[in-house]
Order: sequence, then structure tokens, then C-alpha cells
Amino acid sequence: MEQGEKTFFITTPIYYPSDKLHVGHSYTTVAADALARFKRLMGFDVRFLTGTDEHGQKIQRSAEAAGKTPQLFVDEVVSWIKKLWATLDISYNDFIRTTEPRHKKAVQYIFNKLFEQGDIYKGHYEGWYCTPCEAFWTARQVNEGNCPDCGRPVELVAEEGYFFRMSKYADKLLQHIEENPDFIQPSSRKNEMINNFLRPGLEDLCISRSTFDWGIPIPFAPDNVIYVWLDALSNYITALGYSSDDETLFNRYWPADVHLMAKEIIRFHTIYWPIFLMALGIPLPKQVFGHGWLIMKEGKMSKSRGNVIDPMRLIDRYGSDSLRYFLLREIPFGADGVFNNESMLQRINTDLANDLGNLLSRTITMVERYFGGIIPAPEAAEEPVDRELRETALSTPARLEELMSKLQFSGALEALWTLVRRSNKYIDENMPWSLAKDEEKKGRLGSVLYNLCESLRFISVLLLPFMPRTPGRIWAQLGVESSSELQSWESLTSWGLLKPGTRAERREDLFPRLDIEKELKILLEGKATPENENRKEEEKEKGHTKTKDAQEKDTGEKAAENIISIDEFSRVEIRVGQIISAEPVPKTDKLLLLKVNVGEEEPRQIVAGIAKFYSAEELPGKKALFVVNLQPVKLRGVLSEGMILAAVSPDGKLALTAVDRDLPPGSKIS
Ligand code: MSP
Repeated sequence: MEQGEKTFFITTPIYYPSDKLHVGHSYTTVAADALARFKRLMGFDVRFLTGTDEHGQKIQRSAEAAGKTPQLFVDEVVSWIKKLWATLDISYNDFIRTTEPRHKKAVQYIFNKLFEQGDIYKGHYEGWYCTPCEAFWTARQVNEGNCPDCGRPVELVAEEGYFFRMSKYADKLLQHIEENPDFIQPSSRKNEMINNFLRPGLEDLCISRSTFDWGIPIPFAPDNVIYVWLDALSNYITALGYSSDDETLFNRYWPADVHLMAKEIIRFHTIYWPIFLMALGIPLPKQVFGHGWLIMKEGKMSKSRGNVIDPMRLIDRYGSDSLRYFLLREIPFGADGVFNNESMLQRINTDLANDLGNLLSRTITMVERYFGGIIPAPEAAEEPVDRELRETALSTPARLEELMSKLQFSGALEALWTLVRRSNKYIDENMPWSLAKDEEKKGRLGSVLYNLCESLRFISVLLLPFMPRTPGRIWAQLGVESSSELQSWESLTSWGLLKPGTRAERREDLFPRLDIEKELKILLEGKATPENENRKEEEKEKGHTKTKDAQEKDTGEKAAENIISIDEFSRVEIRVGQIISAEPVPKTDKLLLLKVNVGEEEPRQIVAGIAKFYSAEELPGKKALFVVNLQPVKLRGVLSEGMILAAVSPDGKLALTAVDRDLPPGSKIS
């Protein structure tokens, strides 16, 4: 480790091991991991800390309810949490447990020091306490007997206690917050802290409990345990060896670059924690970032609401990279966002299977088909589209760097997908399958395929922080060897480093397309039943024909709602397609399976409900119009990758649509 290297210290909250974690908890940790990996890719010496917050009344009660000792209880949940993080590829450098001796010793040191310097005094506490939040509240703050944070009932506690002189540091903290605009992010949270807590005045904080014993004892008054938030917050420095025999890590990594968490605990991190640090004479963290919640329709995802989603289940079915992608891409970081199975499945199909997966499979298939699997050398001459692709690729790392410095994960992925989509468009613009027909254009074909492979290299490297498993699968197909310098951040400053002559190899699809309806059923109901499957098939066969009720609604008073904007219309991609072959779909008299040239290198397979109107023999060679960007779907078990357009008369006759001049397959309707 070079001494001059730039360091980056990032933390997640330490989680209560009171129960299994849900997908909301994974959200913070996945985000922290993506940032840690991004900084590592950029060459920072990163330290990424997570862990578990194992003391307090809440854990003690959960253990009692489970009929276990607190230690046994937390040990079991902690091993489950570690397994979850391993499954999600969380690359933490340290996992601190507050029951570890290294932590307990340092927390006792901190308590003693604060007591000896007069910041802690003994008194008597009488007031309200929320056990799920482990938070003290004043009568003014309590909301009709409920916790103002989580809404659950608070309890009246009256006990001997030690108090910390918060008010002594309030002005200094206010000044720090105002002078350091990045300290609390997003800035809306800053105003909330100032207006709701600091300006009304801070009361001294009770920092001990004496009515239960699952905590770190106060060294000089062992009948009292240290308040769990002082215990927990200290993890950020005890894990670095603060006050131990070896403070190397503390000296190297403190102050933290960012403490990441959801908004409900930002108060503890922007008021209590900085004040404790000020009292200890330790510099404050550079940033405390409070992101929004993953919410369900019923509100925040939480066990007490019974609406939690188990991340392990999603990972088992769709893989950890898909879940990571969805969490980071779907919701702008900072805002609340609704977790919805359907949006997740759609993102997997659209962004991962269609955009990214197809880009790779189309490219490698063409390298195999036209160059025997050997990545060709580009020609010296460059066309404007090549320049555009190259410039997009070369500017993407800086764009991501800027967005990631603001923790805009979703924006960063969007910027990366601009390159993915630009590359797909580059295929359509250059039509390699047409170039391949002309021997004189072989050089140009080589350039096009080389550029696509190089663009995929850029994409794969930049994908690494967000989806750590996928790049290796791309490199295996591109022939990029493991731990090659072509996978580094620096390699993204030059275009053209991928060596022509490398052997590429088409392997499995990166993200197989999902049958959304089936998956939804599995996620919601557990299993797809045969009855459900049949009903679904029938519904699908009706295609996009609406039910009678729905049609009446559309034509009646709802007609106005049926108006679409030009933008909505332009999302539908309709192309001229030429039918290459047609055959009946077994066990139905309505469907034909068509192979259609829609101007792509491979014909599409499209299932059409026209068997009663056209025979399979009369269709090959015919041109018709096809919707080509519809969600693929399986009809009677046969994949359909588009929809044929037909006109239907009021008396039920059907005719295919056509254009009135002969245009080549792939021509777009606009
Ligand atoms: N133990 C305290 C934190 C101490 S840090 C010194 C705690 N633990 S917790 O297990 O309740 O987890 C809190 C964190 O989990 C939140 O701050 C947030 O990062 C994450 N989330 C829990 N539920 C969440 C959502 N529904 N949505 C987003 N994040 C969520 O508080």
C-alpha cells in the first residue's frame, strides 16, 4: 500500500440482528458496495465497513421471545446476515460486531474519557422510550403516545441514568453544518435537522440504561449499560482500532468519507455522533448521506407491517446482479421508491436481456459467423458513426465519475446504458449482415465488429461496481483474459486496446428473457398452477384485443383517456417484415409460427393468430407490418418476439397490412 494513495472510507449502518434482513436493508449495503467498488476501480485505497448492532433492549426482548440467550440469538442471525452479504457480493473490508471485545473495550474507554472530562454526569431519567428505534423522546416530541419516527407506542421509563451534555456542543455543531454544505446530504435533510432539532435547542441525552443488562457495562458503574446508540455509533472508529494498541487504520482512514444510511437514522448520525466526536476531539466525518426508503404500496417495508420482501428469494430466482441492478437503477438515490415485482422483472427484460444481453449476443454471433470467432482488425478509415460511438465510450467514465461522486447511482447506470443503447443503434445503422453480403465490404464489416467489441469492453469494465458478476461473463465471450489490464480504469482512456485476433466465443445468454406474467404469479402466489397457466394462454392468444367491457369503456365516457401523445406513439416500433416461413403451432387451430426478416441479422420468430384467415403455404414471401419492440411472450409454449399487424372488419374478416410500394424488410414506420 503506497502511502501517497488516496483513501476512501465508507460505512453502512450496523444492522440490528433482531430478525432476517429484508430487501430494504440490502438497498443501503448494495449502494455502499457499488460506491466502494467504483472507488477501488478508480484506484482509491478503499475501506468499506459494515457490521451488526447487537446490544440493547430490542435484541434482548427478541431473544427472550425466541427462547434463546441474547448471544446465541445474535450469533445465529449474524451468520445469516453474513451469508446474505456474501450472496450479494458485498465486498466489505471489515464486519464489526458490537459484542466483540475490540469494540466493547474501546466503547468503555470512550465512556470513561467523556465522564472524566466532565461531559457526562449522573442523574435520574424519566421520560419516553421507543424500544424498536432505541430512542428517547421528550413529552413534546411524542405523538399521541406513539414514536414520532416509527409510529409505534412508546414506553414511560424512570431510571437512574448518566447524561451527556449535548447543549454544550450545539452551537459548534450548527456552525459546522452551516459551514460544510456537504456534511448532510441530500440538503433537504440538513434543513430538517436544523429546524426540527438544533434550533429548538438540544436537551442533555441519557446515555445509559439500568433496567436490563444486555449491553456494555459502564466500567465504574456496572449495573448500568451504555445506551445502545453511543455503543453503536462508536463502531465507525472502534473498527479502525481507535484507542487500541494499534491505531494505524484509524490514522489512515479517519475521518470517514461517507456514512451511508436511510433517512430515519440520520438524526443520530448528524446530531449525536458529531457531538460525541467533538467531545472526544476527533474530526467529523466528511459526509452523512441519508437515502430514501424502499416502500411497498402499504408504506415502508418493515417486519411489523408484514410487507417485507426476502432478498434471498429474489437472488435465487434472478441472480444477485439483477437484484443489484434493479435496486440501484430504479430509484433516484435520496428519494423514496416503491418496490414492485413487475418493475423489477421489466427492468431485467428490457435493460438486461434486451439492451445489454442482445448487444453481446448479436456482436459475438456476428464475429463467429463472419470471422470464424476471431475479432477482426479495424480499418484505418473512420466514419462519422464510428467517431460518435468512440466519443460516447470515451466520455462515459468521466460522466460516471461525476454522478457517482454525488451518489447518483441511477443516473450513473443511465449514463452507462446510453453507451449500451448507442452501441445497439450502431449495429442497426451499419447493418453488418448487409455488409457481409459484399466481399468488398469485408474491411468495413471488420471495423464495425471491432468497434462493437471494444465498446463492450468499455461497458463491461464500467459495469463492474454495479454488477460484479456480469463483466467476467462478458470477458469470457470477448476473449479478455482474467485480471488483464484491459479491465482497468486507466484502460478506458484509450479506444482500441482490445487486441484484434482475440478469439471470441458465444456462450449462454447473459440474462434470459423472463415470462413476466408467470414470474409475477410465482412471486405472488408461490407457484403457477395448471389452471392458471391455461387461463393465461387463452388471454394471451386474444392478443391485444380488449375484452368487450374494456372496449365499451374506451368508446364510451372513457374515450378521452384513450388519446395518446406523439411520444407515446413513437415508443412503438413498427417495421416492414418479410415472412420467410410459416407453420402451424401444434394443438391450436388459431396460431401460426412465422419466421420473419425484419432487417436484423437473424430472422425473428413471431406467433400470429391468423391461421383461420391465411394458410401456412401462402405466407412465405409476403411482406407485412410488425411491431418489433413488444415484450417477448410465450404462446402455447412458443416464444413470440413481435406482433403482426392486421386489420379486422366489423364482420370479423381479417387482412394483413402492407405498404403501397415495395420497401426492404426493416423499413421503419414513422
Ligand atoms: N442499528 C441501527 C443503526 C446503527 S448505525 C450506527 C439500525 N439498524 S436497522 O437494522 O434498523 O437498519 C437500519 C438501516 O437499514 C437503515 O438506516 C437503512 O439503511 C436500512 N433500511 C431498513 N429498512 C429500509 C427500507 N425499507 N428502505 C431503505 N433502507 C432501509 O437502525
